[in-house]
Amino acid sequence: MSDPIHYGKQQIDQDDVQAVVDTLNSAFLTQGPQVAQFEQALANYVGSAHAIACSNGTAALHLACMSLGVVTGDIVWTSAISFVASANCALYCGASISFIDIDADTGNISVAALTQKLQQAKHTNSLPKVIVVVHLAGNSCDMQAISELCKPLGIKLIEDACHALGASYQGDKVGNGKYSDCCVFSFHPVKSITSAEGGMITTNDSNTAKRLKQLASHGITKHPTELQLAGQPNWYYEQQSLGYNYRLSDLHAALGLSQLAKLNTFIERRKQIFQQYQTALSVGNLTLLEQNPEGESAHHLVVVLIPNNKRDAVYQRLADMKIHCQLHYMPIYRQPYHRISDAAIKTFSGAEQYFANALSLPVYPDLSHQQQQRVIQSLLEIVNE
Ligand SMILES: Cc1ncc(COP(=O)(O)O)c(C=O)c1O
Repeated sequence: MSDPIHYGKQQIDQDDVQAVVDTLNSAFLTQGPQVAQFEQALANYVGSAHAIACSNGTAALHLACMSLGVVTGDIVWTSAISFVASANCALYCGASISFIDIDADTGNISVAALTQKLQQAKHTNSLPKVIVVVHLAGNSCDMQAISELCKPLGIKLIEDACHALGASYQGDKVGNGKYSDCCVFSFHPVKSITSAEGGMITTNDSNTAKRLKQLASHGITKHPTELQLAGQPNWYYEQQSLGYNYRLSDLHAALGLSQLAKLNTFIERRKQIFQQYQTALSVGNLTLLEQNPEGESAHHLVVVLIPNNKRDAVYQRLADMKIHCQLHYMPIYRQPYHRISDAAIKTFSGAEQYFANALSLPVYPDLSHQQQQRVIQSLLEIVNE
């Protein structure tokens, strides 16, 4: 029997192992030089002025909301189709969350649905303070259109780019901050690069960067220019706000930094795998999520759309053959914790259609040609029965 194939996994080489071992043998396991180097390298890669590392993508989203002033009573919106963290970050701040419908062909926020929701919210005086925009599967949303709708209304934008490190939009890397206030990445093992657990926030605003840095470390600063009391001895530090210990360790940063050097190679391989799926599956009349014509996806996920309510049966048949696909995602509003009424669910036609059909196929840099052929042949066999 063949080995199991999973939908995603990390690729670790000897350089990565050595980077972690070197850090283990160094003076700093945390709060040392690797974190600053990783932050600088990531900021350089995406073209942002600042990058702030933290313990995971969820913490990064929480900090991004806090840094943009989300507090109790505020309203935050996010995409109906995302990981729950895109919504929970607002709830951690005491805000309420509301969902925007998606375009079932791309999986990303529908600009038409957003336009309509903004119009309604203007009438009812219930506009959001922040929108968390999700680049599903690594494919950028229409950020220019979204920003043109939101900026005049004073709505801040956070890009949840946990799937999209290495993607680009209008010729710039996602994370460069042209159309948003903060952009958040995750380095969970299935993502573009890994630091085991880890996250990063990029921003071009130096005050936001300062706040993020403090909030990730208890709200504490030691920086001489930030202190409220001047002329203090060297040991002195101040807690200026209520923050968290959301720091990334140097061990994690060393792994992330080593992985970042291989990011472009990883994305190139993911793109080849995506293109092979696209060509082979079109023969069986299966379609993949549409790509943004103004962008280059990071191909974090390859989502195939299985029509006629057959998705769950196909998923199970593949699992029986040890091909472990996944669904990204059930709409957040269907989770018991976030559940909305059945009548309200009916208003999300894009998310419901996507939810019925979507299936994430295996994609990761060292997925072999033979493994991919096994996935393709098994899938075509099952859908053509
Ligand atoms: C879209 C999205 N947002 C946020 C997160 C949270 O990232 P992390 O697992 O690093 O906390 C994930 C992780 O799966 C994600 O896919």
